[in-house]
Amino acid sequence: MVFPMLVLEGRAFIQGSFKQCAIGIEDGVISSIKKTLHGDDNVDYGEFLILPGGIDLHVHFREPGLTHKEDFRTGTTSAAMGGITTVFDMPNTMPPTTTLREYEQKVEMAGRKACVDFGLYAALSKPRETSRLAGAGAPFKLYMAQTTGGLDVPADDVPGLLKDLPPVYPPVVVHAENPAKFKATDARTLREHDLARPVEAESSSIDLLKAMRRNFHITHVTSEESLESVSSSGFTSDVTPHHLLLDCTRPLGQLGKVNPPLRQPSEREAVWNAFAGGRIDILASDHAPHTEEEKSVNFADAPSGLPGVETMIPLMLRKVRSSDLQLDRLINAVAERPAELMGLNKGFIEVGRDADLVVVDSHSVTKVRGKKLHSKCGWTAFEGWEAIFPLAVYLRGNLIVDKGEVAEDSIGEHVDAKVPAKRPEPAKKPGFGAALQQGAPR
Ligand code: NCD
Ligand code: ZN
Ligand code: ZN
Repeated sequence: MVFPMLVLEGRAFIQGSFKQCAIGIEDGVISSIKKTLHGDDNVDYGEFLILPGGIDLHVHFREPGLTHKEDFRTGTTSAAMGGITTVFDMPNTMPPTTTLREYEQKVEMAGRKACVDFGLYAALSKPRETSRLAGAGAPFKLYMAQTTGGLDVPADDVPGLLKDLPPVYPPVVVHAENPAKFKATDARTLREHDLARPVEAESSSIDLLKAMRRNFHITHVTSEESLESVSSSGFTSDVTPHHLLLDCTRPLGQLGKVNPPLRQPSEREAVWNAFAGGRIDILASDHAPHTEEEKSVNFADAPSGLPGVETMIPLMLRKVRSSDLQLDRLINAVAERPAELMGLNKGFIEVGRDADLVVVDSHSVTKVRGKKLHSKCGWTAFEGWEAIFPLAVYLRGNLIVDKGEVAEDSIGEHVDAKVPAKRPEPAKKPGFGAALQQGAPR
């Protein structure tokens, strides 16, 4: 069968550097990359940057059951507008994703509504369901402590649950906090929340996991101490934009209440340096929307979590522009490493990969406004921050965001996580921050 060829021209990130080139796309897949190509349709982005689509391995789109906060349509629209073309959604919905039946129902629901491609985690929590869910290819999420949704498992039960998982499997993604180290206080401020669920709870939980000899992926790491536990155990890890950019001294009140907590400025700085230097594999949003009403109660009763899927890449592109982060590191953390970790045929601009592409005009700095974002929750902890939102986003060759507006929706497909390829070294190439700093000429 012959497919029409779409050609995108621009400065694309190919094999570690930016090249002015033409990307040929047929049937949703990159079919050729040349200096020039004549397609059935050519779109010339001039010197705008073309990056691989973002892959966010940690979002909460709240469907089924909590759709007053978010649903699969609004969540995936928000993702697309922020340059994310694949999301992995968490299982703490209502009902939670703990059985094969719930998993299959959720795959079906999301398939009807998603604007970007998606994977769905099942909670590692029910012994009899684990092998059935693994048979269906579900990636797993493990909660070691109580957080929104209450799917936590006592550490002693974890080895029993892992028994039914093949030894080589996409890594189990873990919310690592050890409740034995929590302090019994009713925190009233972000600093008290930090003290109530201290850094030590996180690192101690990672140490418990280490003893289980599995390939875990530790999500939302927040401290140097935890990173040391992660590297000594050979696990992979991710960090959120809020733990990289915010700390517990910010006047956010309960809007900034999240698990694990925002830490002290010195801790934030250490984690930033680890991320920028490639010691943390992945950037993931932990997009956890709650309504403003739910967040407006007193601190102790407010739910934990904040939205972030739409602002993650735009805030970081702004950091690249100010030379605080190298662009190749950002691409590595939001596209290459997540694709490798979950075994996806995405994440790189390469012949044979899905044509998930994001076009960026590095001059287009705007301010984040909660009311203008596409999440149902309508607020952000980054109100007024500068950011660079994508101009255009392609999902498997389909234009889903054009000039900052939704161009097409509901074409997202389910992706299976596969056994990951060998873990390569984090990128240590010379940086490409210059591409954004100097600003690509228009
Ligand atoms: C998340 C949520 O609201 O679902 N909350 C949070 O504070 N991060 C759950 C989680 O990831 O722990
Ligand atoms: Zn969590
Ligand atoms: Zn989460």
